[in-house]
Amino acid sequence: MNFADPETYRSGINRVLISEDEIKEAIKKAGKMISDSYDGRPLLLVSVLKGAFVFLADLCRAVDVPCEIDFMEAKSYYADTKSSGSVAITMDLKHDISKYHVIIVEDIIDTGRTLSEVIKLLKAREPLSLRVITLLDKPSRRVVELEADYSLFTIPDLFVIGYGLDYGEYYRNLPYIAEYSEGGGEDA
Ligand code: IMP
Ligand code: MG
Repeated sequence: MNFADPETYRSGINRVLISEDEIKEAIKKAGKMISDSYDGRPLLLVSVLKGAFVFLADLCRAVDVPCEIDFMEAKSYYADTKSSGSVAITMDLKHDISKYHVIIVEDIIDTGRTLSEVIKLLKAREPLSLRVITLLDKPSRRVVELEADYSLFTIPDLFVIGYGLDYGEYYRNLPYIAEYSEGGGEDA
């Protein structure tokens, strides 16, 4: 698929699943929950790139207690859909997390494989506490037992784009969550 072509690009957006306003409203609530629970504690929001960058940017502005931000990047390598595989950290955090209450900010939990590896890795560094907040949850797709501490939206088994989530690196800039439409049927 050549998404650089505007027509192809637009035909990939099937329908809006979660509107900009719905996301805003849910983030306001999540920000308040975080502010209430972490007030007076050293708080570090950790985003797993790239998908969660938009969510983190909005979420941190809904938090009104002191907090710091850090980023990491993880790549998953799996042969087909087998559950065995490995996750490589391609960019690590800059903070020593043993001094912080850490919240992992995720875009979506799908099979749960990437996040479960990231959790294992961060737990070994003994943060003061570790929790997970995710914008979207696709529980029907889970192959690893894993639950977010806070999930803003539960969605069915659809491939979604927008608000940080991509298909072939496109659509991250959409301000809403949409269902991706295969259209021509060719793979990216
Ligand atoms: P998993 O939970 O290890 O399967 O991987 C989750 C990652 O796969 C997410 O962080 C996304 O980058 C990507 N992903 C899963 N489902 C979707 C989707 O519907 N749209 C876009 N990316 C997705
Ligand atoms: Mg992600």
